[in-house]
Amino acid sequence: MELLDGKRISDEIKGEIATEVEKIKKEGGKIPRLVAILVGHDGASETYVGHKEKSCNQVGFESQVLRFEDTITEVELLQEIEKLNNDPLVDGFIVQMPLPKHIDEQKVIEAIDPRKDVDGFHPINVGRMVIGLPSYISATPDGIIELLRRYKIETSGKHCVVLGRSNIVGRPIANLLSLKAYPGDCTVTVCHSKTPNIKEFTKNADILIVAMGKAEFVTADMVKEGAVVVDVGITRVKSDKTKSGWKLLGDVKFDEVAPKCSYITPVPGGVGPLTIASLLKNTLRAAKKEIYG
Ligand code: GUN
Repeated sequence: MELLDGKRISDEIKGEIATEVEKIKKEGGKIPRLVAILVGHDGASETYVGHKEKSCNQVGFESQVLRFEDTITEVELLQEIEKLNNDPLVDGFIVQMPLPKHIDEQKVIEAIDPRKDVDGFHPINVGRMVIGLPSYISATPDGIIELLRRYKIETSGKHCVVLGRSNIVGRPIANLLSLKAYPGDCTVTVCHSKTPNIKEFTKNADILIVAMGKAEFVTADMVKEGAVVVDVGITRVKSDKTKSGWKLLGDVKFDEVAPKCSYITPVPGGVGPLTIASLLKNTLRAAKKEIYG
């Protein structure tokens, strides 16, 4: 069994991006600039945005966080988005989710210029991804693809089972792995909350991707010997064994599943660290106008 070390791969990708930024600087080019819109004071969102800002500094990007109170109206937020769409100094921007209930998230996503949509949430980017055109791919599925690629995991002809059908993980990764590509060329099954006998599917998975948000859902009896297991879940639970009083659990019961696997991601330290690396990669591609010219 080998661990898929997301932290190591993330550092590798950040190093490659930093080298490119150095080159851009030397040649007198424009430094990539990422802006994050943060509405309200959600603790997890503050943490994510803080990590994103720190990572931008690490690779030499310019970054900015635009903060608004959760009293901002939908119209006002859409106006802020329009300003960023029209600002030539901003290469890419994200609107941190979730948004307050009075704001329609889908409307916000669709207001972002697809050329600056480095989260890859706009239907134009999603549609382009599905038919295999160059696009911004959202952070988690892109992180999974990078892990498979950089560990040179064989995917062609494999049966990949995805647990979860969310727009930001399950659905995009299922599409990506079915494309004629590497990593890809898989036969993909998507299971979800209405799938009866999930175990009958997971037992046949060469590659099992779990993104359901149910702590320790996948047990050893559900996994085939030699499978590749990618765990996207993170649930914070109370623990009397850690200093903080909390620990993070994945969707996979790691201790019993790991011995059966050829490769498995740890939680934390698996897919999580790669998501920011993917966002930085998208921002660099936006600055270089690689996708839309
Ligand atoms: N909230 C949780 N994850 C994400 C993400 O990847 N992008 C945005 N915009 N919001 C999030």
